[in-house]
Amino acid sequence: MIDSNRIKRLPPYSLGKIKGIMSEQRAKGIDVIDFGMGNPDKPTPAYIVDKLCEVARDPKAHRYSVSKGMLNLRKAMAHRYKEDFNVDLDPESEIIATIGAKEGISHLAMAMIDEGDVVLVPNPTYPIHLYSVVIAGGNLVSIPLTKENGFKVDLEKIRKNNFWPKPKMMVLSYPQNPTTASVDLKYFEDVVAFAKENDILIVHDLAYKDLVFDGYKAPSFLQVKGAKDVGVELFSMSKSYNMPGWRVAFCMGNKEMIANLAKLKSYMDYGMFIPIQVAAITALRGPQDCVKEIAETYRKRRDVLVDGLAKVGWTIPKPNSTMFIWAEIPEKFKAMGSQAFAQKLLLEADTVVSAGVGFGEYGEGYVRFALIENEDRTRQAIRNIKKLLENS
Ligand SMILES: Cc1ncc(COP(=O)(O)O)c(C=O)c1O
Repeated sequence: MIDSNRIKRLPPYSLGKIKGIMSEQRAKGIDVIDFGMGNPDKPTPAYIVDKLCEVARDPKAHRYSVSKGMLNLRKAMAHRYKEDFNVDLDPESEIIATIGAKEGISHLAMAMIDEGDVVLVPNPTYPIHLYSVVIAGGNLVSIPLTKENGFKVDLEKIRKNNFWPKPKMMVLSYPQNPTTASVDLKYFEDVVAFAKENDILIVHDLAYKDLVFDGYKAPSFLQVKGAKDVGVELFSMSKSYNMPGWRVAFCMGNKEMIANLAKLKSYMDYGMFIPIQVAAITALRGPQDCVKEIAETYRKRRDVLVDGLAKVGWTIPKPNSTMFIWAEIPEKFKAMGSQAFAQKLLLEADTVVSAGVGFGEYGEGYVRFALIENEDRTRQAIRNIKKLLENS
């Protein structure tokens, strides 16, 4: 075999099988409704795209950039955190741009973790939280997120567990993908105290900062006094500005962690295409109405899906954030497992969802809907699911 041990440690891509069946169904002419991947369906706001096009015509904008991102981009991010959270960040030493949060998290793990270092990661979670540790050669310890603990990392339980060797780092992400759990600032105060007391570094992924509803405001981990002593936060532009394909995110906070990531990245990339960075500055500094409109689109879809499923007998709590619905599998299908149930939904209700187990073994018993279909198509999916529930 020519593959490395690093590659051998990575399981096959979890959505692979469902994607294969989806393509076969579509080739047969079946209209498959796709709630699979958390990939925003709407375009980036026009004024951001216009800026990209304008700058792309400037010959000076075609050269290599810098891997940590242009200073003006980092300043724009600092401005946004000041506006949104009243958090002060030094653009020189406390902010680095990354080529999406996924890239930032992967390389941060490589920059911070040595072979065998213990890293605590919630489970289920966005897969790169788990696999960045595996890729970096760390020793991954899953912290189960369950209905009973409100899908929150139970710090008291970790204290009692007395892990040995002592964990070096813990990854958190609230609002949480896939469980949609959210926290208040007090929770992050406890996290910072816990991190100080146990000498653990924190990586907090705030990908869903702006996808919040019903008056809820997602706190930043960096709002807590002393948070910068123990960790970093990642913010991605993918969801807030419908910019998933652009690959723009930031890692912010602890200077040493940022410096380590910057050093590693300086060997690996030359940063983003300059016009993308300038357009991202426009987005971060401009009026934020588009962000609210984007959140509102997901809120409406959430209501259509959750209310509609409740009417056909599938009751799911309404989340106050993210672009997902985390649905416990109806009792009569539970025993078949999330992968088989997702396949059943695809074959018998023409509806694609993600199997909970694809986010870690503690995701078993659930499927995740990503709210990336419009309201009409969401209603169609509910009609299809109604038939499946009635006929099975
Ligand atoms: C928790 C979380 N972090 C990060 C990302 C990806 O962010 P980016 O597009 O910046 O890589 C996602 C995408 O679904 C996510 O759910």
